[in-house]
Amino acid sequence: METNLQKRRENKKSLRVKVISLGNAEVGKSCIIKRYCEKRFVPKYLATIGIDYGVTKVQVRDREMKVNIFDMAGHPFFYEVRNEFYKDSQGVILVYDVGLKESFDALDSWLGEMKQEMGSHANMESIVFVVCANKVDLTKRRVVDESEGRLWAESRGFHYFETSAQSGEGISEMFQAFFSSITDMCENGGRRPASGVSAGFTREQADTIRRIRSSKDSWEMLGVKPGATREEVNKAYRKLAVLLHPDKCVAPGSEDAFKAVVNARTSLLKNIK
Ligand code: GTP
Ligand code: MG
Repeated sequence: METNLQKRRENKKSLRVKVISLGNAEVGKSCIIKRYCEKRFVPKYLATIGIDYGVTKVQVRDREMKVNIFDMAGHPFFYEVRNEFYKDSQGVILVYDVGLKESFDALDSWLGEMKQEMGSHANMESIVFVVCANKVDLTKRRVVDESEGRLWAESRGFHYFETSAQSGEGISEMFQAFFSSITDMCENGGRRPASGVSAGFTREQADTIRRIRSSKDSWEMLGVKPGATREEVNKAYRKLAVLLHPDKCVAPGSEDAFKAVVNARTSLLKNIK
């Protein structure tokens, strides 16, 4: 009797979840999963054909979780196979290669594909996202820095981890945070808890930093037309300074963005009479 009751209690505590991996081909999705589940790394590239499926059991606090992992192929060729597997996911591992800018830029279109396949009533708030900036072991070829990746992730309420499937760096920390957030979400009635990933900065701050980073010249950086007056430059500068001042803004990259804005203003004012 007692054992049955005990068993029932344990069953009540166990969770079944579905997670998927997304990102361009060759960024390391399968290797990250393999590193976690099998504790090994395969240097040879073996493209995933459509989908790879695996199950793993994990323990989060007093819960046992059965995690169904659907490892997606990143190649556009497999879109038709992939698109059926987006539904009913509780977690998404978004991966890019820190040495390939296009794989980072592609994260938006991966989210787009997912939203499209899940339909208009899909609730993205019921999904935990983790972004893996992968292949950090290859330091010399790195082109996407930490603040850029972190900003993209955290401004959306997603976790961000620097990972290397090759060395194992960040992998278990990433999965631990990921599974722990999924458990929190399930215990919170299926909604991502507000405290889950608290960015501590606004979307406006994040978008402004991103715009400043991609500006071609000082005019564009301050958001004024070439040939703007001193007053216009100063007005634009003051607005940005309030938004990005290091005392007020904790967004990744805000300090560099603030410095860039100060320099842009100085160089423009030098040439305006
Ligand atoms: P698709 O299945 O085609 O979508 O690719 P994928 O994202 O699953 O990539 P996969 O895990 O197969 O890895 C692609 C290549 O990158 C392989 O040659 C891996 O050995 C290599 N790789 C993966 N992760 C790392 C890493 O952290 N560091 C280094 N140096 N190489 C890695
Ligand atoms: Mg793969």
